[in-house]
Amino acid sequence: MTLNLISIGLADERDLSIRALEKARSCDILYAELYTMKLATILATLNMLTEKPVTLLKRGDLEEHSTKIIGEAKTKNIGILVGGDCLSATTHISLILEAAKNGVKTNIIHGSSIFSAIAETGLSIYKFGRTVTMPLPEKGPADPVLRCIEGNLSEGLHTLVLLDLDNENNKYMTATQAIRSLIEAGISQDTLVVGVARLGQPDSLIKAGRALDVASFDFGEAPHCLVFPGPLHFLEEDALKTLASCPPEVLKNRNIKPEFDLLIDKYITGCRRVREVMTTNPPLPPTDSQIRVILDHVDRYLADAEYYRADKKPTALTSVAYAEGILDALKLLGIADFQW
Ligand SMILES: C[S@@+](CC[C@H](N)C(=O)[O-])C[C@H]1O[C@@H](n2cnc3c(N)ncnc32)[C@H](O)[C@@H]1O
Repeated sequence: MTLNLISIGLADERDLSIRALEKARSCDILYAELYTMKLATILATLNMLTEKPVTLLKRGDLEEHSTKIIGEAKTKNIGILVGGDCLSATTHISLILEAAKNGVKTNIIHGSSIFSAIAETGLSIYKFGRTVTMPLPEKGPADPVLRCIEGNLSEGLHTLVLLDLDNENNKYMTATQAIRSLIEAGISQDTLVVGVARLGQPDSLIKAGRALDVASFDFGEAPHCLVFPGPLHFLEEDALKTLASCPPEVLKNRNIKPEFDLLIDKYITGCRRVREVMTTNPPLPPTDSQIRVILDHVDRYLADAEYYRADKKPTALTSVAYAEGILDALKLLGIADFQW
């Protein structure tokens, strides 16, 4: 027998594929996990469509009672209906793994998802970096979201920010709340942001602009999410103006060179300037203490490189290049002897 994860799709029960519906109807027991997503559907509608009683799973049920469900799947066909795509931004792969390890056959029915629907903003799906979830204020700070946006930006990538929800208590973080918290946490009020609401529903909404302006926009009912764009291709700019009413001046005045470009500009300009103005003195053999100072610099640059490597910062590369350059110079001067 089989454990089936069945995607409902993005907006409501009408996003169920024919394959999903057929599979749901063929199951002996049907569950629904609706706590990771706000869908415009209700249990009674799912009962009617699947022609089965559907049992609603509570948050924690899939983790705490997975043994019970996997046990049932040993002798029966079990279906779990999940909002959106059943394996996107959920932890349900662990259930599939556990079932497989217990010798239970598994089957996935994929579905529409916020992860692909976000392309409706006109931003290229190939240029999204790591996705992050903005926690409800009582669940955590906004800082990790900020770091994720900065990290993606430094690689020239867009960031999809999903917004936390507590479906059981009818609590949904809104685009407005999230932007305000991020401004408090340190993003500039002028940052370009795209607010997105209810994709896949007839009244979906996409609005781009300065963070401060988008924060006062009324996005209506949840679900909402945000995108912080990286550098934009002209087609993406056109889409934000045309599809997301982005004021053209917000796009024109953007200055978000990725950290990598900023560093390269800084070091090339610095070296060019020095080459133009530098003078050379007659060579003097360096003293032991001068050599110790130079080697101390090498050690510090190496320590910096190791420190920044942990955060995957481009500074790691520039630091280690400094260390390597000094060692090379010592070799060229005949002061140090080594092979790379
Ligand atoms: C935990 S994720 C679940 C994603 C889902 N499994 C999927 O594949 O789309 C839920 C979050 O995605 C965002 N989201 C989901 N559907 C959305 C929609 N139709 N429009 C805008 N944001 C949406 C919201 O921020 C919501 O809180």
